[in-house]
Amino acid sequence: YPLSTLMQMGIRDILVVTTPEDADRYRHLLGDGSQWGINLSFQTQARPEGIAQALLLGRDFLGGSPAALILGDNFIYGDGLLRSLGKANALAHGAINFAYRVSDPQRYGIVEFAADGRPVRLVEKPTNPKSNWAIIGLYVYDGHASDYAAALTPSARGELEITDLNQRYLDQGMLQVEKLGPGNVWLDTGTHDSWLEACHYVQTIFHRQGQMIGCLEEVAYRANYIDADQLERLAAEMESSTYGQYLRGLLI
Ligand code: G1P
Repeated sequence: YPLSTLMQMGIRDILVVTTPEDADRYRHLLGDGSQWGINLSFQTQARPEGIAQALLLGRDFLGGSPAALILGDNFIYGDGLLRSLGKANALAHGAINFAYRVSDPQRYGIVEFAADGRPVRLVEKPTNPKSNWAIIGLYVYDGHASDYAAALTPSARGELEITDLNQRYLDQGMLQVEKLGPGNVWLDTGTHDSWLEACHYVQTIFHRQGQMIGCLEEVAYRANYIDADQLERLAAEMESSTYGQYLRGLLI
């Protein structure tokens, strides 16, 4: 799902950061991305030392370019949303965070707004949240993100916090926070319950509309990353499954 979000934002060069134990499984599962018209590279993170560390591990990969960072357990869906995310791509200056109203803000990094709507403070997993607006796990940065991440110090939980990096952009007046409306869907699949909820959502939309969410072959085809012949070949490889039949249905 995160890959499909990046692809819909127009991003085709992607670094997948995993634990060393999972690296081979992801390589095997995803390959080099050419089947979907994208380029996948892989990088391991030896210890869980924070989301912002990905920007250090990916420093050579990024080479000072603007980038988007998305968390593997974040599920983002919504027609208009994906269009506005696409516009956020290729940011020359500053950073963009996306805020989503939730009922359990203490589970997330949150953003506090001033009366005039300006974002004033970011707080990671507050015990007594002063805002219900969570920062979702999709961040867009200019080319300075790796340098700023290098200047962070680990938090009490021993991590380079993405919230500290975003706070730095905010302190410099370089952070935009875009509120996502209630018609968009952001689910965090990091707990068993929330993962099951996301599965039900995907199933509901598929049953009701016949529309798959996060079908990488479809996303690639609609974005013209692959053509009809390539999609036909991918469908043929999976012909005996309902997934393969779905792909074939896209060609009619
Ligand atoms: C991380 C971030 C948090 C953000 C959340 C979104 O939390 O630290 O700011 O709101 O992802 O999923 P974690 O996954 O480390 O609990």
